[in-house]
Amino acid sequence: MASTKIKINKHLDLSRLPKHIAIIMDGNGRWATRRGLPRNLGHKAGCENLKRIIQHIYDLGIKYATFFTFSTENWKRPKEEIDGIFNVVRQYLDDDGSQFVERDAKVIVSGDFTKLPNDLVESIKRIVDKTKNCKKFVLNLAINYGGRDEILMGVNKAISAGKPIDNAEEFSKLLYSKDLPDPDFIIRTSGEMRVSNFMLWQLAYSEFYFTNTYWPAFSEKDLQKALIEFQKRKRRFGSL
Ligand code: IPE
Ligand code: IPE
Ligand code: MG
Repeated sequence: MASTKIKINKHLDLSRLPKHIAIIMDGNGRWATRRGLPRNLGHKAGCENLKRIIQHIYDLGIKYATFFTFSTENWKRPKEEIDGIFNVVRQYLDDDGSQFVERDAKVIVSGDFTKLPNDLVESIKRIVDKTKNCKKFVLNLAINYGGRDEILMGVNKAISAGKPIDNAEEFSKLLYSKDLPDPDFIIRTSGEMRVSNFMLWQLAYSEFYFTNTYWPAFSEKDLQKALIEFQKRKRRFGSL
């Protein structure tokens, strides 16, 4: 997370940013295929962009960011592609480890990461442990994450505790995202207009933004454009 100078679009109001932004980073494969490249180079470019966008979210002063990195359904892909995705994530965590601490940024994970390959599990444990006392920013990596799995995990925890859950807030405390506010803004790149099992419980009142841009090409400018759109939304939460 190297420091960068940022240009702010004059229409963006820095006092009304979302608290928690969540991004479904889609379109790595198509980005690569369009260029005649193997899909795994799309994941590499996607990971480079992840770094850029994390930095920008951090510089804007947004405190919480969740990135959908690997879904419980992505195991259906060819092994070579899955390995490629895990490799770029592991490299990123290993290379950027100390920068997170320097910037007071905490890394947490949503999803059962213990099912990932050992070297990646170790890298994740290392960065989570190293950054556990950081306070300024929280990066939540959704990896081997599925919204339905997460809800089932919560239900099973409630059953084990042997008492009914009284309200939604209480149930939220049983989920991976227990220490995060619900995402107020969810962006999905690549033109697909679906949720694909992402944060099903938490998205109850999220604002959605869809763009045709493939994830590796989604720039800081595009992010600011999306945030300007977020600021135009009238959020009612069921009231008038
Ligand atoms: C998103 O890009 C990254 C992951 C799902 C891991 P895709 O790999 O889904 O790219 P497309 O949708 O095939 O273009
Ligand atoms: C969602 O993208 C998962 C991630 C971005 C990690 P997919 O590419 O897996 O979603 P579908 O298959 O198009 O619904
Ligand atoms: Mg996709």
